[in-house]
Amino acid sequence: MTDSVPTLSADLTSALTATTPGSRASGSTGPSAARTDGPARVVVDLDLPGVTISRHLYGHFAEHLGRCIYEGFYVGEDSEIPNTRGIRDDVVAALRALQIPNLRWPGGCFADDYHWKDGIGPREQRPQMVNSHWGDIVEDNSFGTHEFMDLVELLGTEAYVNGNVGSGTVREMSEWIEYLTRADDSPMASLRRENGRDEPWKVPYFGIGNEAWGCGGNMRAEDYAALARQYSTYVRDHAGNEVTRIAAGASDHDYAWTEALMRAATNLEKREGKAGPYQAISMHYYTMSGPWQDKGSATEFTEEEWYRTLSRAAHAEELVARHATVMDHYDPHKKVGLVFDEWGTWWNVEPGTNPGFLYQQNTVRDALVASIHFDGFHRHADRLIMANIAQTVNVLQAMILTDPETGALVLTPTYHVFAMNAGHQDARALAAHVLLPEEVAEVDGRALPMLSASASTTGKTALISLSNLDHAEERTLVLDLRGRSVTGHTATVLTGASSAAHNTPEQPEAVAPVALEAVREHERGLEITLPPHSFATVELQLGSDAARASTELRQTM
Ligand code: AHR
Repeated sequence: MTDSVPTLSADLTSALTATTPGSRASGSTGPSAARTDGPARVVVDLDLPGVTISRHLYGHFAEHLGRCIYEGFYVGEDSEIPNTRGIRDDVVAALRALQIPNLRWPGGCFADDYHWKDGIGPREQRPQMVNSHWGDIVEDNSFGTHEFMDLVELLGTEAYVNGNVGSGTVREMSEWIEYLTRADDSPMASLRRENGRDEPWKVPYFGIGNEAWGCGGNMRAEDYAALARQYSTYVRDHAGNEVTRIAAGASDHDYAWTEALMRAATNLEKREGKAGPYQAISMHYYTMSGPWQDKGSATEFTEEEWYRTLSRAAHAEELVARHATVMDHYDPHKKVGLVFDEWGTWWNVEPGTNPGFLYQQNTVRDALVASIHFDGFHRHADRLIMANIAQTVNVLQAMILTDPETGALVLTPTYHVFAMNAGHQDARALAAHVLLPEEVAEVDGRALPMLSASASTTGKTALISLSNLDHAEERTLVLDLRGRSVTGHTATVLTGASSAAHNTPEQPEAVAPVALEAVREHERGLEITLPPHSFATVELQLGSDAARASTELRQTM
């Protein structure tokens, strides 16, 4: 994949051998479940809140790829589809309901081909370019910086702008952040005003290229690390806008790439002061049931492919844990954040669609891939500061699909997982220990427990996420709730008639959340029956001992 650094340094190699997903040694719980002779149990200590789960773990990604930006978000002002300055109103409303915390743009691979000055000024005068990665089509640049920042404001979200290292200059990147964020009459701030925007925007996240080991320039790790230092230096903080610069990180298990970037980062030894010149490193990993050449169908899969997919989704946690171990070695004070800014399923495109557009359906299986990722993210929220599913509309594991003929909008099963899990955003993580009799599938030499879980608390409430990974069997479990009294609960479940069930314009609610009725009081807490292939959330109201708990919360902050 890369010829970056042939091997990882020896001390890290042994550290990684010891880092099993969620090993207690690395200070986190993991997807592995302990064995029990009794009924399945999920034990949650409600009075022991851990780190804050950043809302940015629920981030999004929109690339100039297929029908994501054009048709998905942007239909133009003359469209019959109701829009605000060309941006679809229904898409904005659906994403506002999810409280999406950030949006990454313009790529992806596209970012390292993109020259931002081509996308400003009067639309009819903007030059065209070739989108060589995605369909080799002509891009007219009608959606550019102002349109993206307008979208960010309509969504009430935060901007993650990804700059161009592969084919762009340092000056170009430096001028972009000046254009976006500078308040005075500097050359770029004045140019922005000429183009109709007086006030600077806020841009809290800026990507220093993308996949530099591949589409972003085919670089070696050390060569890219030097460029990341250089380019990051010129992404300046203007007018009180504080940027987190995100160096383009590894694919999958390329820990040597992460190590090279950590070696090149500075100011990591002491607790005080920001890391420099970049403050975060990204990683990418996609879930598929087959090999890269034949990733599998989104909607037609066997039971074996079901389990292989979920096992590969669970593997994401192992990757996060191991990249975090490499980072811990150089950065004990966790000044550099890990940003998982491309994750999700990648299937063969839907038959009859453009292979370069990456349009795929989204089933109950995709929903569980998402819920499994989130369980792992919650457990590693001490290092993981952001994650972005790929991609928001009409591309890969989307929240929203739109019909090319009619424009009709469909919310996917994955959308509903984001909605049901929204309460975890900025809540404090709670350990959720899974105890199972022996319900573990063996896939590719890895054990896959049939239940995945995670939990968090706001102090007054707790949210528990539960995924029954069993393809065919329902699962009854005891929610063993300790440390706080529980005064009320509501439970919601997401499933479909089959594991391949999905939503279409004709059947938009084939997979939609409904109240989970099978919840009974139990001496240890609650007894719950989950349908086969389902995701559920249980929201708990916590009792009057909340005062004590919130004091504890303050003390541990
Ligand atoms: O998300 C699709 C593509 O996957 C992105 O453009 C690239 O970064 C990755 O390879």
